[in-house]
Parts: sequence; structure tokens; C-alpha cells
Amino acid sequence: MAERPYIVGNWKMNGTRAMLSEARAIDRAAQRYMRAEVAIAPPYTLIHAVHREAEQIGIGAQDCHAGEDGAHTGDISATMVADAGAKFVILGHSERRADHKESNALINDKIASALDAGLRIILCCGESLETREKGGAEEFVLKQLKASLPRIDDAGERLTVAYEPVWAIGTGKTATTKDIEAMHNAIRGLLDDTYGKEQSENVRILYGGSVKPDNAREILSIAEVGGALVGGASLSAESFLGIVVAASETEEA
Ligand code: PGA
Repeated sequence: MAERPYIVGNWKMNGTRAMLSEARAIDRAAQRYMRAEVAIAPPYTLIHAVHREAEQIGIGAQDCHAGEDGAHTGDISATMVADAGAKFVILGHSERRADHKESNALINDKIASALDAGLRIILCCGESLETREKGGAEEFVLKQLKASLPRIDDAGERLTVAYEPVWAIGTGKTATTKDIEAMHNAIRGLLDDTYGKEQSENVRILYGGSVKPDNAREILSIAEVGGALVGGASLSAESFLGIVVAASETEEA
């Protein structure tokens, strides 16, 4: 891999100020495991507080609105999350696609807005169990990505892709090493075609879906896996750091 493994915690709708101590512990430990790049995406309400505490880890948002500003009650723009201290935003997560009926078109508008605000993007993709069982996972994921990969010259600096099979998120199930490898290779092929090899090789492809300290080593050692997007196991510093340690040792091997 061209870059350090990237371990990103997605706190989802979890976390009050009481969780700041976990963020501090993650930040302190990240300073000891510099072979991994560590980040967390707390809920909007904690972005600024975590940003103020953190010296090492990257801070991101879990979503943003597609618009710049205006009459959108309850929504938060990319500019606002950047102002609060976020450096990246997760877009296209399957929970947003399912819970908020987000289409590829809407996700594209959000990507454009986030890039305008100077944010890096973690673009999520992944198939349902039904699609996987029918044998159409690869085709589905590549189509989903083709619809949303932004036309930019500096993808290597601004884009990360996260492959998260929907059926593996929060379920304790993970895809097999063989399936992860095949999907990540297919995604790499698409990135090569879209951006050219030079940019593509700096776009990390994260795996997500029930990544835990005890399976992280195996998943992170797959050639095209450039890190992990971690939900449940990122909510405690202890389990998240188990994954960070695995990532830093995997890279050393
Ligand atoms: P999980 O979530 O680790 O709890 O499966 C991953 C994600 O949705 O990003």
C-alpha cells in the first residue's frame, strides 16, 4: 500500500460528552501507533469538542447536506462541519441510503458540496445479502461506485472508498477473505480506469462490517485492504485500539 493503513471509527448515533474521554484515549494511543492513520467520525454534536481535544487523530462527519446554506431545518452543511473542525465526511453509507432514501444523485451533490468545502470524502458502497446470494455483488458495487466517483484530478489526496457489505454491518458477520480480496481488486480496477494508476494507488479502499480486534489482522493483511471503517468496535477506546494496533503491526510485517 502506498499509504499508511487508515482506521476510521464511525460512531453513528452514539456519543454524548461523556464519550470525550474515549476520544482522548484514542488520540493519545494514536500518537504511539503512528504506523496507522487514525480518525473518528463522531456525531455532529461532538465534532468541535473532539477537534479541540485531539492532537493526532483526524476528525470527520458522518454526513452533510448537499446545499451551501439556507432554509433546511435540522440540516448541516459541509461548510459547517469543516468550520467545526472536520477534515473529511463519510458519504453514501448504507444506513443513510436505507434510512433516508439517499439516491446516487443526492450523494453526488453531497460529494460536490463537501469537496467545495475542502473536505476529504469517504465514499461507501456495498451490496445486500440478496444481491450477494444471487451472485451479483461485484456488478452491483461497481455500478454504485461508477455512479458516484467524483471527476477530480487529485483523487489520491481527497478520496477514500469504503466497501461495506450491508449484511456485515453490525451483524457480527464478515465477508470471507476471498470475497473481500475479489471485491477490493475489482474496485481497484475501476479506480485505475477512472483516475489512472498514479492517483488510484493513493486512494485507500477500506473494508467495513463487523471489524473487531480479533478479525482485524486477517482482514487488514489482504493486499488491497487499505484500512477499516469501524462502527460498533470504535465506541470504546480499548476495542478500537485493538484494531489500530493490528493495523500498525500488519504494515510492519
Ligand atoms: P460495524 O459498522 O463495524 O458496527 O459493523 C461498520 C459501519 O457501518 O461503518
